[in-house]
Amino acid sequence: MTCFGFIRRQKLIIQNNRKQEKIMADMQNAYVKLDKVSKIYQMGEVEIKAVDEISFEISKGEFVVIVGPSGAGKTTVLNILGGMDTATKGTVLVDGKNITDYNSRQLTAYRRDDIGFVFQFYNLVPNLTSLENVELAMQICKNPLDAGEVLKEVGLEERMGNFPAQLSGGEQQRVSIARALAKNPKLLLCDEPTGALDYQTGKAILKLLQDMCRQKGMTVIVITHNSALTPMADRVIHIKNGTVSAMEMNEYPTPVEEIEW
Ligand SMILES: Nc1ncnc2c1ncn2[C@@H]1O[C@H](COP(=O)(O)OP(=O)(O)OP(=O)(O)O)[C@@H](O)[C@H]1O
Ligand SMILES: [Mg+2]
Repeated sequence: MTCFGFIRRQKLIIQNNRKQEKIMADMQNAYVKLDKVSKIYQMGEVEIKAVDEISFEISKGEFVVIVGPSGAGKTTVLNILGGMDTATKGTVLVDGKNITDYNSRQLTAYRRDDIGFVFQFYNLVPNLTSLENVELAMQICKNPLDAGEVLKEVGLEERMGNFPAQLSGGEQQRVSIARALAKNPKLLLCDEPTGALDYQTGKAILKLLQDMCRQKGMTVIVITHNSALTPMADRVIHIKNGTVSAMEMNEYPTPVEEIEW
């Protein structure tokens, strides 16, 4: 073997070892683990398999993007993970707890204390100000952060006293993100958070989510149909026909401001 051939082989061995180590570390660090989770909706005589024995793992502090076509089962997976829906079969572990074993009281506490949700439409209370909307959500959870501080972090220091109707779509989405973050949740789950926003505003919202994940070490999962966004994630989960069709890790995720689509 030539000297170059030898060096190339050594490099390959080192790269493979690193990949193997990363996979092992991921398996030990799984913060979220879905194991053969299925969701079947019974519509009269017809069974609809929205999720079909899906399995994946997520480590703590990761920024995860879930992509897939319409009807693939993305929202169903997120709702099961967030305790808004229950799996027909399979197990879901979050931070070492099997949430598929929870009764309805435990699920309520889980949704209240551990999960932050961000939806496509902001669902703010129209007759409460930005600050009051955030404070309202915090009243029901265990370890809330300071509402004013969080609104400052999302760039709304000057708009705390405004009602939703006085805010732009992007600003309203910032309030809803602040509301979710103020709960100091274990998981921040976002279902098409930029679906109702224009290009630039959508980008700013994704940057905010990416920044919050990095600064707070929070585990953030974002559903999107836009596959151009996948480079911004640590982990990309492709969902098709209710199951994972592919999964990839980005060792060097791209800051969202460098992504064009
Ligand atoms: N409550 C329900 N009852 C019956 N069928 C449902 C229910 N919720 C979802 N489904 C079906 O399960 C499948 C997956 O739906 P889901 O909403 O998870 O897809 P999605 O990937 O989020 O799609 P989209 O990108 O359009 O939001 C679809 O065929 C849908 O019609
Ligand atoms: Mg959906």
